[in-house]
Amino acid sequence: MATINNNYLKLKAGYLFPEIARRVNAFAAAHPDAKIIRLGIGDVTEPLPSACRDAMIQAIADMGNRDTFKGYGPEQGYAWLREKIAAHDFQARGCDVDASEIFISDGSKCDCGNILDIFGDDNAIAVTDPVYPVYVDTNVMAGHTGDTNERGEYGGLVYLPITADNNFTAEIPSQKVDLIYLCFPNNPTGATATKEHLKAWVDYARAHGSIIFFDTAYEAFITDPNLPHSIYEIEGARDCAIEFRSFSKNAGFTGTRCAFTVVPKKLTAKAADGSDVELWNLWNRRQSTKFNGVSYIVQRGAEAVYSEAGQVQVKELIGFYMENARIIREKLTAAGIAVYGGVNAPYVWVKTPNGLSSWDFFDKLLSSCNVVGTPGSGFGAAGEGYFRISAFNSRENVEEAMQRIADKFTV
Ligand code: MLT
Repeated sequence: MATINNNYLKLKAGYLFPEIARRVNAFAAAHPDAKIIRLGIGDVTEPLPSACRDAMIQAIADMGNRDTFKGYGPEQGYAWLREKIAAHDFQARGCDVDASEIFISDGSKCDCGNILDIFGDDNAIAVTDPVYPVYVDTNVMAGHTGDTNERGEYGGLVYLPITADNNFTAEIPSQKVDLIYLCFPNNPTGATATKEHLKAWVDYARAHGSIIFFDTAYEAFITDPNLPHSIYEIEGARDCAIEFRSFSKNAGFTGTRCAFTVVPKKLTAKAADGSDVELWNLWNRRQSTKFNGVSYIVQRGAEAVYSEAGQVQVKELIGFYMENARIIREKLTAAGIAVYGGVNAPYVWVKTPNGLSSWDFFDKLLSSCNVVGTPGSGFGAAGEGYFRISAFNSRENVEEAMQRIADKFTV
């Protein structure tokens, strides 16, 4: 008799975003005339930059010619893309990252989950609360946790609360943890980390032999020149950090799929016999076995992000969404609602008005304004009483959604 991975039975009913979609679809079916505006999932809405589209069209032409046709590509990604990433995203910022340390993939969400393949089952794992649910759920699936308590927290994980009191940046833990997930600019709170904050984490990780998983999928939204874009801007980070990056939110590749993960060559963790093993070798082995790379066409599109035209167009896209974020922040603030984030990040973290719970606010917003956001409690117990609004939508929809909220919820 076949058996299942029983860890899946520990997971809460549905992954957050499909659960929201289920509720919204039920509402839409019952109210077919409602003009629903979706500011829930952080999915981009604006067209791909023309530089990327042109490069992909040329790549399709390459595939139609015997001399330039491509079959399997390198599992790690084409060298021409990895070299551009290394030069623009790292070396230009003074980070010591070589092209060979970059692994192209089909998404940061996938990589954040898959990375657990190369780590042991006995690590103490720290996540912030609230947190991007993928970090938690993939550890549950891998059997790294116990069941949930009445707050919905999984046994075996170390939760680091992030609240308005600590500017939504976690305190360095007093106990020893082996794997630490950090996300800056933060999903869901929109908070950012200073170099000093990241330095404290790097110092902690080096002192304890821990590894930081640094998810910086939203780095392109940083406008403050003093904020770090990569953890490798911090001295010592090569000894303790893996970084996850994506083309999803900067160049609009959520549907096209392209991302990358940086694993420094000398970064090590312990084997059962106490020896130090290089994680680059394990990740390379993992990817070569379970992954066949991102399509040539998509990698050519991603490469075009680094062209002169691509850089201008990506900047425009980011500017467009950041103007949405500004409108959201200002309109809600004027309505007397407390908001955080949305300055160097596309997410605005809203204190629910009138003491409403996150899901109650979700339901009220959907039924009375036909606007969809994401309940803060879906990101963890400490997210209760908060609500995430995403800046990814058209200007017209953002303006209309904010007007509807201001009309109903001014406090
Ligand atoms: C979100 O809404 O949090 C994003 O869609 C996360 C993701 O990119 O997977």
